[in-house]
Amino acid sequence: MRLVLLGPPGAGKGSQAEVLSERLQLVRIATGDLLREAVRTKTPLGVQAETSMQRGELVPDTLVTAMVLERLPSTVDRGFVLDGFPRTEGQAVELDAALARLGTPLDLILDFETSPAMIQWRLAGRWICRPCSINYHVTNRPPARPGLCDRCHGPLEQRADDRPETIAQRLRVYQTQTAPLLGYYRRRGLLRAVNGDLAVETLYQELVALFRGERLWPAAT
Ligand code: AP5
Repeated sequence: MRLVLLGPPGAGKGSQAEVLSERLQLVRIATGDLLREAVRTKTPLGVQAETSMQRGELVPDTLVTAMVLERLPSTVDRGFVLDGFPRTEGQAVELDAALARLGTPLDLILDFETSPAMIQWRLAGRWICRPCSINYHVTNRPPARPGLCDRCHGPLEQRADDRPETIAQRLRVYQTQTAPLLGYYRRRGLLRAVNGDLAVETLYQELVALFRGERLWPAAT
């Protein structure tokens, strides 16, 4: 199965992508996580991306698209869930072309419809473990030991772009640059709205029902 998760910051894309990749054995490609890792390790990509990310703006298409396309061939057998990509029509067109070359077109685009109050609440309470790319939430998904990752026991931190003024900018960028993709995929008949306000497990169960209805899961053998 080949899925794209679309939705504003805090819609729960990353949390659901983690569950989908674990339970359905899909390759997860999370551009935000990959870029944060590039910034942390000061790769040439990270150096170029850092300022845009700190401002809550998009990293240039050419950089992000290359980073994703080089990973696609390794997903041919298992399928994938794309979390945070594409975010512009240019990225979507490049993705379609690359998948056409591989003979593995997209199956579904899930639009996480999430209320503004829920977005604010989730982002204000988010803590992350950078090395493990795991999201925690102070109320919803607290770690077993406060401030420490359950998996690696390293310290958790808040994301630099989760400051209120940067969240506001990310939401503006979503509306102007990414939301138009909804029309792009709706015209292709691939878009399905899902309720991003639901708890992660509840939404997962709804997605399984959706995949069954679309005859995408269990995967044909
Ligand atoms: P990215 O990391 O992709 O950030 P985002 O899209 O703004 O999304 P978030 O990670 O903020 O939210 P999410 O929907 O994944 O929610 P999450 O599951 O974490 O991108 C960061 C930056 O990188 C961008 O601003 C840009 O600069 C750059 N970038 C990335 N991709 C790019 C691209 N393609 N092109 C150009 N630039 C790009 O959940 C949030 C919190 O809520 C967590 O604490 C979680 O535990 C909790 N939570 C989540 N879901 C639920 C739920 N269902 N119920 C209860 N709690 C929940």
